[in-house]
Amino acid sequence: MMNRFQPFLARQLGNPSGWFGRLLLRLLNRGNANLNDLVLEALQIQSSDGQSAIADPHILEIGFGGGDLIAKLVASGQPSKVVGVERSPEALQLCQRRFRRQIAQGTVELHQANAEALPFPDDAFSHICTVNTLYFWPSAPQVLAECHRVLCPGGRLVVGYASKAYLERQGLTQHGFTAYETAEVEALLRAAGFTAVSTRDGGDRAEQTFCTDGVVPA
Ligand SMILES: C[S@@+](CC[C@H](N)C(=O)[O-])C[C@H]1O[C@@H](n2cnc3c(N)ncnc32)[C@H](O)[C@@H]1O
Repeated sequence: MMNRFQPFLARQLGNPSGWFGRLLLRLLNRGNANLNDLVLEALQIQSSDGQSAIADPHILEIGFGGGDLIAKLVASGQPSKVVGVERSPEALQLCQRRFRRQIAQGTVELHQANAEALPFPDDAFSHICTVNTLYFWPSAPQVLAECHRVLCPGGRLVVGYASKAYLERQGLTQHGFTAYETAEVEALLRAAGFTAVSTRDGGDRAEQTFCTDGVVPA
């Protein structure tokens, strides 16, 4: 039973669809709360004196799923705009409903798009974040090149993910997940042109979560 369910779950995690996808998106919001908080902290939207570290922050989230990180970014009151891209129509519809007020006000903007081809001009964002999505990227260098392109000089990218060991234990790497060691993620960011690359440990013993961030040279 478990063996038949694993490939289905892996596919759903990479592209939630149907009633199961809608349920999964809600469960992911709960399960990924700690990692979302770690990513929020690593974004450094606010400097230590409580001021905005960058003038007029514009933030992009790639693969927003059920939208909890978007909600946290909006609630922080820092970014003037939060933009999200998702390839799953189910996730897009769920979040279009969830954020209908902010969308009407122009503080949230959601798009159906692939991370490999971001539908934005160069230098459009000050920050980009993405949580538990890199396992599904067909080409991590291509996605990171796109992130570099749409970030302005001095802009920051934060990637949140679970450890390779955890994903292997869950049997997900046998079903299409590409898992990375932290050193591999750091090397990918450097190869894409990011500097000041570093990794935070989520301190989650069971899942072993990390987030790696880097900056586009000013
Ligand atoms: C495991 S879920 C994580 C959702 C959310 N970030 C969270 O942590 O709860 C992965 C999400 O990334 C989206 N996704 C995966 N690959 C993508 C890509 N290449 N471009 C855009 N979205 C992608 C999927 O549709 C899915 O909603």
